[in-house]
Amino acid sequence: MFSAQGPSLRELTAQALSSVEHGYDLLAPRFDHTPFRTPDTFLDAVGGALAALGPFEHGLDVCCGTGAGIRVLGPLCQDSVTGVDFSAGMLAAARAAHREDGPEPRWVRADVRAMPFAHGFDLAVSFGAFGHFLPAERPALFAGVHRALRPGGLFAFPIGAPPPVTSAWYWAFAGFDAAMRVRNAVWRPPFVMYYRTFPLHAVRADLVRAGFTVELRALPEFGRRRDGSPRGRLVLARKP
Ligand SMILES: C[S@@+](CC[C@H](N)C(=O)[O-])C[C@H]1O[C@@H](n2cnc3c(N)ncnc32)[C@H](O)[C@@H]1O
Repeated sequence: MFSAQGPSLRELTAQALSSVEHGYDLLAPRFDHTPFRTPDTFLDAVGGALAALGPFEHGLDVCCGTGAGIRVLGPLCQDSVTGVDFSAGMLAAARAAHREDGPEPRWVRADVRAMPFAHGFDLAVSFGAFGHFLPAERPALFAGVHRALRPGGLFAFPIGAPPPVTSAWYWAFAGFDAAMRVRNAVWRPPFVMYYRTFPLHAVRADLVRAGFTVELRALPEFGRRRDGSPRGRLVLARKP
C-alpha cells in the first residue's frame, strides 16, 4: 500500500487491531512512507507563520512520532528542541532520522495525557495527532501543555476546516469514524483515531478552560472555501 517502502495491507491491519501505542510501534519503520506523516507543505506553512512570532528558546513537539515537527522547531528554537511520544518505536525511528540534523533533539517517552514537564518551554507544537484523543481527554492534554510552558509561552497547531457535506471527503471521514466506532465496540484493545472529534469551537473552549488565550490565523497556503473562510488555520494558544 501507498508506496513500495510503505506498509502492506496486512501490516496496516495488524496495526489497526492493536492499541494506539503498539500500533505505532509496529508502523514506525515505515511511517515516513505513509500519508499519516504530516507533509512538509503543512509543516512549512506553520513554520513560516511562527517565524514572525519568534525567535524562541526551548521548543516541544507534542506526539512527535518520527519527528516531523522538528522541521518546524529546529530553525525557530535557539536553545533546545524536545519531542515527546509514547511509542518507543516511533521515538527510535525519530532518533535515527534526525541523527545528522545539527544539535540532537531530546526524545522523551511519555503519555501526553500526563505530560511530564513543568514551565520549561516557550513554544509547543503538535501535528497530526489530535484524532487519537477522545473529547473527554482534551482537558488533561491541554492542561499538560499549559503546565509545560513558561508564562507567555505559545501552543501552536494547524487545524483544517471541516469538508462540506457535499464533498467526498465529508463522507470518507464520516465512514472511517463509523467503522472505527464499530471496531472499538467489538475489539480490545481500542484503537482511538477519529477524524471528526476535534471541532474548532469545542477545542477553542477547552483551550480557554485550560487557561490559554486563543487567537486564530489563516494559513493562506491552503486557500479558501466557497464561503470565503480559510481551509487551514493556525491556532495560537498563549499561556498568559
Ligand atoms: C499520526 S502520528 C503523527 C506523528 C507526527 N506528529 C507527524 O505529524 O508526522 C500520531 C503520533 O501520536 C502519538 N500518540 C498518540 N497518542 C499519544 C499519547 N496519549 N501520548 C503520547 N503520544 C501519543 C503516536 O504514538 C504517534 O506517534
